[in-house]
Amino acid sequence: MSENNRVAKLAQRPVGAVKRDDFLIEDEPIQDPGPGEFRVKLAYISLDPAMRGWMSDGRSYVPPVELGAVMRAIAVGHVEQSNHPGFAVGDAVTGLFGVQQYAISDGAGVAKVNPEQAPLERWVGGLGMPGTTAYFGLLDVGQPKAGETVLVSAASGAVGSIVGQIAKIKGCRAVGIAGGAEKCRYIVDELGFDAAVDYKAGNLSADLKSACPDGVDIYFENVGGEITDAVLAQMNPFGRIPVCGLISIYNATELPPGPKNLRSILVNRLRMQGFIVFDFIKRYGEAVDALGTWHGEGKLKMREDVREGGVDAYPDVLNDLYTGRNFGKLVLKV
Ligand SMILES: NC(=O)c1ccc[n+]([C@@H]2O[C@H](COP(=O)([O-])OP(=O)(O)OC[C@H]3O[C@@H](n4cnc5c(N)ncnc54)[C@H](OP(=O)(O)O)[C@@H]3O)[C@@H](O)[C@H]2O)c1
Repeated sequence: MSENNRVAKLAQRPVGAVKRDDFLIEDEPIQDPGPGEFRVKLAYISLDPAMRGWMSDGRSYVPPVELGAVMRAIAVGHVEQSNHPGFAVGDAVTGLFGVQQYAISDGAGVAKVNPEQAPLERWVGGLGMPGTTAYFGLLDVGQPKAGETVLVSAASGAVGSIVGQIAKIKGCRAVGIAGGAEKCRYIVDELGFDAAVDYKAGNLSADLKSACPDGVDIYFENVGGEITDAVLAQMNPFGRIPVCGLISIYNATELPPGPKNLRSILVNRLRMQGFIVFDFIKRYGEAVDALGTWHGEGKLKMREDVREGGVDAYPDVLNDLYTGRNFGKLVLKV
């Protein structure tokens, strides 16, 4: 066992994209768990677009990470020392363990996972928070009906890839928006989407129209910005827009102009509804069971983009999410 715990603490609130200087990355002594606690040796840290928001001071759905605190992160690893009756040495667990190598926990918000069912990193991806986000966002907020067209942005990513595949399982037509030919080919050829639109190819509106000849019934929003305006023009009457994320604006220093095409919401009587996966926390078990079953049946494919470099690589690797340099669920090996 190494002597120290490498840890990334938030040193200052980033402006724009995160920088190495926004974090204090240092060694600390590894702590022993107190009564009722256990220590987890983390294996993979989940890098999520929401992290950028957690660093900012401002009203949100969770309080910001305090300056000087360990950066908040979902992670997965193994219990290596325990004074907790519910968690034994060797248990594989996920929870909000932070950007570090070792975490002390009292078990709050921690779930056991089964590494024999799927590799450890998948439990922070398609079988973890991003998968449950796709499940509740599409099924509860979007309410798809067989035969409808479901369009999703950031479609090759952790959430989007699962949204499109669940849409197919539910008998819908799945169309994805992604950046670049390789990601577009992947979602159609490997994940079974019906069509893909490369938003970087320069013909977004025309390409959306030909990929969705019957219009769009559900637009699963992951990015915001110009893509939203282009999609609004293709929505069908009584369409639904679950607003899951707006990654195109997370690093913005000034808010971009709002969607121009609000007229589409009016004339098509659209329902646009934001949601946060934590709203569904009491039903996580239902989602993980369904995702695990579909995954086991080969109906739900999952891809992780695992990065090396440990805790020190955190700021640089995180930035890859906002430029599309990740391909699949981004995780950092620690
Ligand atoms: N509401 C919730 O509870 C909840 C929970 C989890 C995630 N989310 C949201 O879900 C979205 C996807 O998250 P994820 O974890 O699955 O990440 P991801 O899709 O695996 O990675 C992010 C992707 O976003 C795309 N992207 C980045 N900047 C963009 C831009 N300016 N315009 C268009 N696309 C851009 C890139 O794909 P391309 O290469 O295709 O551009 C990138 O690969 C995020 O908005 C996130 O905040 C919400």
